[in-house]
Amino acid sequence: MSTIVAPSLLAADFLNLERDIEMLNRSEADWIHLDIMDGVFVPNISFGFPVINLLKKATQKPLDVHLMIVQPVKFIDEIAAAGAAYMNVHLEACVHLHRVVQEIRNKGMKPAVTLNPHTPVTLLEEILPDLEMVLLMSVNPGFGGQQFIEGTVRKVAQLKEMILKQHTSTLIEVDGGVNLETGRKLVDAGADVLVAGSYVFNSEDPAETIRMLRAL
Ligand code: DX5
Ligand code: ZN
Repeated sequence: MSTIVAPSLLAADFLNLERDIEMLNRSEADWIHLDIMDGVFVPNISFGFPVINLLKKATQKPLDVHLMIVQPVKFIDEIAAAGAAYMNVHLEACVHLHRVVQEIRNKGMKPAVTLNPHTPVTLLEEILPDLEMVLLMSVNPGFGGQQFIEGTVRKVAQLKEMILKQHTSTLIEVDGGVNLETGRKLVDAGADVLVAGSYVFNSEDPAETIRMLRAL
């Protein structure tokens, strides 16, 4: 089975968004990863509903929405209405994570929980059976183009072990500093989904880069 690849739109050319989405549509990209930032949970602001709501008209690819915002629970209805397949919420942003996860599922989306680099995977032990996916951040969230944090490979292996032990079918996604070299290590450790922003969009042939990442 090939690795699932979710290019991050954050690294696209926003003045030529339609062109870049068409490139993704023609490519082997499995999903499109959308990074939503509020300037509070992370020190940056990206894009919001005016952009997200247009995307489902422009692509058939499943939307993987990564919310880097405080109280993501407030926006579950809007994210569902925008047609998201996966809704990723940060564990660090949810006091009542179990309730948030159930609400995401009740709205017809697949719940995923994201962990910052410093957050141990063991904190997910109780909630793992309720999750479709865990997203491990391999950079501090907020910006594209940062350097990969090597310790993530060990976290992937540890999470994989938890998943096998609990017999769940949770996917492991990794986001930040992913390229062919770091991607190789992540897939070997048990990652199922790779998010890649700058590595895809800054490459000479983004569609070919996506194809190579899928082949890992
Ligand atoms: C960072 C975002 C990432 C970002 C990845 O906060 O969550 O999805 O776009 O960018 P690269 O692949 O350039 O590290
Ligand atoms: Zn992301």
